[in-house]
Amino acid sequence: MVSTASHIGDFQFKNVFMNAAGVYCMTREELETVRQSAAGTFVTKTATLESRAGNPEPRYHDVPLGSINSMGLPNQGLDYYLDYLLELQDTAPEDTFFLSLVGLSPDETHTILKKVEASAYQGLIELNLSCPNVPGKPQIAYDFETTENLLTEVFTYFTKSLGVKLPPYFDIVHFDQAATIFNKFPLTFVNCVNSIGNGLYIEDETVAIKPKQGFGGLGGQYIKPTALANVHAFYQRLKPEIQIIGTGGVLTGRDAFEHILCGASMVQIGTQLQKEGVGIFERVTAELKAIMAEKGYDSIEDFRGKLHYMD
Ligand code: DHB
Repeated sequence: MVSTASHIGDFQFKNVFMNAAGVYCMTREELETVRQSAAGTFVTKTATLESRAGNPEPRYHDVPLGSINSMGLPNQGLDYYLDYLLELQDTAPEDTFFLSLVGLSPDETHTILKKVEASAYQGLIELNLSCPNVPGKPQIAYDFETTENLLTEVFTYFTKSLGVKLPPYFDIVHFDQAATIFNKFPLTFVNCVNSIGNGLYIEDETVAIKPKQGFGGLGGQYIKPTALANVHAFYQRLKPEIQIIGTGGVLTGRDAFEHILCGASMVQIGTQLQKEGVGIFERVTAELKAIMAEKGYDSIEDFRGKLHYMD
């Protein structure tokens, strides 16, 4: 029997697939549709301390090779997601989910993480170091000094299972520098990658989304080679205790197979989930299982990280 089960830290998942933060995860209703689907788990929309309306619409646009968005962190606020996850912890104690969060300042991030630390929540936490869309706020993870200072402070008080969501890096030296920093901390996972930030898509003579004069994060087919490179670069550099979540350009079981070959332990779907709906999880799971069966692989661990090189 071919299985697509996987694990992150001590947490087991019946399926390697899940949503990517931002898609199908703003409300309980959306999260419930993912929970009831073939997905192995879900991640919530990145929460700030207070709820936010986000940027003016239109702020997400599907395009033939992917999507462009500048949502601006619309979300219901930390308590909304934390309360829901605490409820699930009581009603579905065998399941584990991911809570995504970030503050609008380092102080706010610490306030949020201290609330999570003090709560009864026992699941996984994803600290989003890579939101490209809040005007005036640069992506934390492109500033290595800020990133290291933030994580140093976080791990003086935080003891739960924490990972970070990363933007794509494009230079080998940046892979080295980022991995050196992450290896200093007891992170459970890194998630590669967030959208390729600040692309520009034009239809006729006009930008495709309203905020930031049309600049927005790219997802979908455009970003798979960049995503795979980041997954594999961190797989090569991080200590084995830090697992990798692969995100970016997953439309098919074959795309997921490639993420896992590069070292991913979970595979997230964003743009194509937005385009296709939660039925995608059944399709890509069947496609991945068919590839595994053809190659004689029974489990994810049979091929995870085992990318072939030419030398
Ligand atoms: C938003 C976009 C991101 O890529 C992210 O990581 C967090 C938030 C947004 O615009 O809402």
